[in-house]
Amino acid sequence: MRTIMILNSKGGSGKTTLATNLAAYYALQGKSVVLADLDPQGSSIDWLKARPESRPAIHGIAAWREPLRVAAATDYVILDAPAARHGQSLTRLIRYAQTVIVPVLASPLDIRAAREFIREVEHVGRVARHNIQDAAVIAFLKSLFGDDTSTATTRVAVVANRVRENTVAYDTLYEFLDKLKIPFLTTLRDTQNYIQAAERGLGLCELAPSQVAYDLEQWGPLIKWLNSKRSLPV
Ligand SMILES: Nc1ncnc2c1ncn2[C@@H]1O[C@H](COP(=O)(O)OP(=O)(O)OP(=O)(O)O)[C@@H](O)[C@H]1O
Ligand SMILES: [Mg+2]
Repeated sequence: MRTIMILNSKGGSGKTTLATNLAAYYALQGKSVVLADLDPQGSSIDWLKARPESRPAIHGIAAWREPLRVAAATDYVILDAPAARHGQSLTRLIRYAQTVIVPVLASPLDIRAAREFIREVEHVGRVARHNIQDAAVIAFLKSLFGDDTSTATTRVAVVANRVRENTVAYDTLYEFLDKLKIPFLTTLRDTQNYIQAAERGLGLCELAPSQVAYDLEQWGPLIKWLNSKRSLPV
């Protein structure tokens, strides 16, 4: 079972967008996919409700509400994490996935928040187990991974999201992400395609190929990394 979490403490950075698009991508590949929403906002579950029955099925779990079990035959579990409430640390969630993707937007506020968050991520080993809160989410994650996750080393990578190329904001973001110790995989542009897909419960890969060709190209390095051993715990 492959587990991929989308995580950033900053609201609106594209966590749900990445989670739903990844879920749709793997479902279209014929994989059995669980989309686990860890966020009480329930945006991933709302997306699933809009998903046409004719599309490859994705099983939704509202993990914030009920720690349902994931079927053993599941190929991919995509975990859509919440933004942080004030004073809450999300790095406690990291140990519960094989792979974590952090989407970051190109704005001074987002970059500042990402700097803090990624520093925290890099020191995740220091996060004490007794910091764990949110009983339903943690019970769900434990049912997936068991209690002892301490030996696993989660792989983390960043993605620039909602980018307008040739802007100073993007140049600043690029420079910041490029210098990080963790891999900077790709840049996803700002386009209505994501919004149109989201409204219809679809992934980009399910829109007209000519409309999304450029975007799917941008997804290439992310998918390639996820399909390689480099994104798996050692
Ligand atoms: N690359 C993109 N181009 C255009 N719009 C985008 C892009 N990525 C995300 N969006 C839009 O930005 C908004 C916020 O994205 P999303 O809901 O994925 O963020 P989030 O990190 O899950 O937010 P929250 O912290 O509230 O859960 C949504 O309306 C989404 O459709
Ligand atoms: Mg969200």
